[in-house]
Amino acid sequence: MEIRHMEMKDLKAVRDLELLCIREYFEKIMENKWEDLPKEFIDSLGASNPRSFRHYVEEGTSFVAEEDGIAVGFIFAKMVHHIYNVENMLWVENMGVDPYYRRLGIAYRMLQRCIEEGKRLGATVVHSAIQPDNLPSLMLHRKLGFFTDSREVALLDLEGPKPSASR
Ligand SMILES: CC(C)(COP(=O)(O)OP(=O)(O)OC[C@H]1O[C@@H](n2cnc3c(N)ncnc32)[C@H](O)[C@@H]1OP(=O)(O)O)[C@@H](O)C(=O)NCCC(=O)NCCS
Repeated sequence: MEIRHMEMKDLKAVRDLELLCIREYFEKIMENKWEDLPKEFIDSLGASNPRSFRHYVEEGTSFVAEEDGIAVGFIFAKMVHHIYNVENMLWVENMGVDPYYRRLGIAYRMLQRCIEEGKRLGATVVHSAIQPDNLPSLMLHRKLGFFTDSREVALLDLEGPKPSASR
């Protein structure tokens, strides 16, 4: 399994995977049926939507996990500047792993790689979008040293105590 930079050629595979993950979460929390949602609404969801995908690819901080030539995981991130009194912050927008490949350390490796890249680009802080009721995501972030509370963001100070380097 390889973690590599996301490329434009990944659009279809990553779009399908991100929508699968969004649908999974949606069906846990909403009463509406996914099939009943307007197509325009579904098209607007996620960082892989046609308006955002290129932006995240060009940022150079988005990655896919590839197994036998197939993208089985994705992470979307970008650098943000001059926010919260910080010059360079890495913002993690979304991530997901194909259900068949979960609990194999793929998300851990993708997030770790993304943080390393952010650090290389000068980030001193990482903010990652989370849902406080999403236990797998919360546990993943905590394992990498993020601070989480009731906010929909997990916080990692790259100048603070070092996150654990191995699983
Ligand atoms: C959250 C998600 C990305 C984790 O991906 P993954 O590749 O299965 O995670 P990893 O195997 O790297 O797990 C790393 C750590 O996260 C935590 N974790 C992951 N899945 C977990 C689960 N189902 N229950 C509890 N902890 C979990 C554990 O601490 C795990 O370490 P361990 O296996 O040594 O106990 C995956 O479950 C997913 O795609 N979910 C749907 C989309 C989503 O919720 N995205 C998160 C948006 S922030």
